[in-house]
Amino acid sequence: MSFDRSVKIAPSILSADFADLGREIRAIEDQGADWVHVDVMDGHFVPNLTFGPMAVKAFRKHVRTVMDVHLMIAPVDPYIEAYAEAGADVLTAHVEAGPHIHRTLQAIRGAGMKAGVALNPGTPAAAVAHLLDMIDLVCVMTVNPGYGGQKFIDMTGKIAELRAMIGDRPVHIEVDGGVDPETAARVVEAGADVLVAGSAVFRGGSVDAPEVYGANMAAIRAALA
Ligand code: DX5
Ligand code: ZN
Repeated sequence: MSFDRSVKIAPSILSADFADLGREIRAIEDQGADWVHVDVMDGHFVPNLTFGPMAVKAFRKHVRTVMDVHLMIAPVDPYIEAYAEAGADVLTAHVEAGPHIHRTLQAIRGAGMKAGVALNPGTPAAAVAHLLDMIDLVCVMTVNPGYGGQKFIDMTGKIAELRAMIGDRPVHIEVDGGVDPETAARVVEAGADVLVAGSAVFRGGSVDAPEVYGANMAAIRAALA
């Protein structure tokens, strides 16, 4: 996984058919997805529940690009090794998930993965000021995490602040929540390079009509020009 700041689309399989996730992953990759975004929720840190390390390990067999695992769980540390074994390329933990985010990020890199840190809408950019040399990605939440299909919350000011703080460091800025062609253009302009999109990619398509996924991703890319 080499670093560059070109815009990458990371469809969130939260919006896919859970009974057919292997085919869904292959469909979005065939249609041009750059990364695959996997939303892990525990019914505790967020009010919804998705999948754990055993399911993520099963997804791995279908992912040919980058498996980007977003943990919306607390605590994080007891599960880091399991997600490394599951084959996560990027493992992102929330700064709000516990008192020792520095230790968590060290453990993620120590387990051989790229380390990401996510910020809820209410958390300021300054929360990562002392973490910038130990992360590979900052995920700016543009919804309160827990569900797909929520309305975009404008965090362009925070994204621009992070972009300036990051400088030349090889750290991605990912935006997650309510990304569609219109909001994608705004967040990329502010400095984001990884666009997570659930409903805007899967809307109207299916594994039997995957070209809709391709058209939805093309609409996001077209809006960036
Ligand atoms: C929100 C998740 C997101 C979500 C995005 O809790 O982290 O990844 O699936 O979904 P959309 O693009 O539908 O807002
Ligand atoms: Zn996510």
